[in-house]
Amino acid sequence: MPAHVAVIMDGNGRWATQRGLPRAAGHREGVKATRVLVRAADAVGLRYLTLYAFSTENWSRPEDEVSTLMRLLEESIYRELPELMERNVRLRVIGRGNGVPLPVRRGIDHVVHETRVNTGLTLVMAFNYGGRDELLDAFRALARRVRAGELSPEDIAETDVSGALYTDGVPDPDLLIRTSGEMRISNFLLWQIAYTELWMTSVLWPDFSSCDLYRAIADFQRRSRRFGGV
Ligand code: IPE
Ligand code: IPE
Ligand code: MG
Repeated sequence: MPAHVAVIMDGNGRWATQRGLPRAAGHREGVKATRVLVRAADAVGLRYLTLYAFSTENWSRPEDEVSTLMRLLEESIYRELPELMERNVRLRVIGRGNGVPLPVRRGIDHVVHETRVNTGLTLVMAFNYGGRDELLDAFRALARRVRAGELSPEDIAETDVSGALYTDGVPDPDLLIRTSGEMRISNFLLWQIAYTELWMTSVLWPDFSSCDLYRAIADFQRRSRRFGGV
């Protein structure tokens, strides 16, 4: 079993457009698919599930779409709290807090706080997340340690970089799933996916089901991970 699965949940807009619906309808369906995925991930015993919910680049979308996404997140996070508690799921958030509307930030902080003692699945939500921003923040933190005399440049190790990322303490993903047929990473977990197995599907995010997760895991189990060895 993979311990850590990361997902780029893509295709909400196209799902809605295909049905002649506003993009917001696709995002609402996307939330449902996300709920199904968390249940399936918990049921199969994943340790970590990382979801790409909103990228730093997504701010460039029309204002009404951005506010729909913010409102949906705020609503869902409070609504899902009882089930997260019941399933012993711990929520963790990666991304920059700055720039996120205050009510959304409050909701996220509340749920992170409430679930902090849970010991089951860790749900890592990438929100206002950018892989390059994360690396920049890590390099700045390391530079500060160097300036303070705690670390010499020659001694900077991979573990220092990993430890300075938002994902400190989270193992690298074993499997990365992307929906909607796009073959790109879109600024997600750039450092962490060095040896992650990739699994792309043309299924649009609102149509993603637990069977798709099982299929991805079954494919993963047939792969030979060599990490550069033989
Ligand atoms: C993913 O679906 C949701 C977010 C990026 C927040 P999209 O909104 O990107 O849907 P498409 O890619 O336009 O179909
Ligand atoms: C990636 O999807 C970001 C999220 C799923 C949150 P995008 O739709 O933003 O990515 P691009 O624009 O197709 O690369
Ligand atoms: Mg997209």
